[in-house]
Amino acid sequence: MSKRIPVSAGNWKMNGTNAEVDALCDGLAGIDQIRGVEVVVAPSFLQLARVSDKLATSGVHVAGQNMHAAASGAFTGEVSPTQLREVAGWVLLGHSERRQHFCESEEALNDKVRSALEHRLTPILCVGEQLHEREAGDTEAVLKRQIALDLDEIYLPDGFVIAYEPVWAIGTGKAASEVEAQDACAYIRDRVSQLFDPAKANTIRILYGGSVKPENAGTFAAQPDIDGALVGGASLDAESFKGITQAIADAKR
Ligand code: 13P
Repeated sequence: MSKRIPVSAGNWKMNGTNAEVDALCDGLAGIDQIRGVEVVVAPSFLQLARVSDKLATSGVHVAGQNMHAAASGAFTGEVSPTQLREVAGWVLLGHSERRQHFCESEEALNDKVRSALEHRLTPILCVGEQLHEREAGDTEAVLKRQIALDLDEIYLPDGFVIAYEPVWAIGTGKAASEVEAQDACAYIRDRVSQLFDPAKANTIRILYGGSVKPENAGTFAAQPDIDGALVGGASLDAESFKGITQAIADAKR
């Protein structure tokens, strides 16, 4: 099996003034000393250029939290991949908060994934079930549907990144167990294997997200099908995020 480079990604969501974000970037100094992990942070669109400048020599990648699929056009309030590409190399797509609160459909996401790849952005495609779906025993059916529709007719590059974020674990302090997370990530890899091929599936990076902290990050990253973390709240604290990144590096060494 080819070695997959793990990822430590921080989703800052709609948080932080310019001053707070500056301080957070300053606090990330030294994160490049943690070897063998790709580090990504996703600030708000308004702060992308600022954070890109601040982190220019840090080795940290910068991501948008969303984007429109079209390269330009009459889409008031949206940001295009062409615009994003000027300040960021990565983009989160299909976060559950976008699916839930902004009615993002699988069809729109499929267009976004294709467009991001065409514009040489590295997507982090987020998938995951809601609590009622898990309780009904539908977790795998939900993941199967999301993966099939979001990746339909996509040319998948090696190392493509998918984040498994069970909605019930996001911002609740109630993380999935490592067994639940591993089972879901293994299932996602199996779906990619079925839809593409086993060699491709072996290169895909699958992250766990949902109440990740420095204390549990290593346990998740030690699972065979979990290649890192997508972190919300704990990524707003530089020491916590560095701790999580170090824990991932240690688990994968
Ligand atoms: P928390 O780490 O705050 O649970 O958020 C996870 C998340 O939504 C990352 O995208």
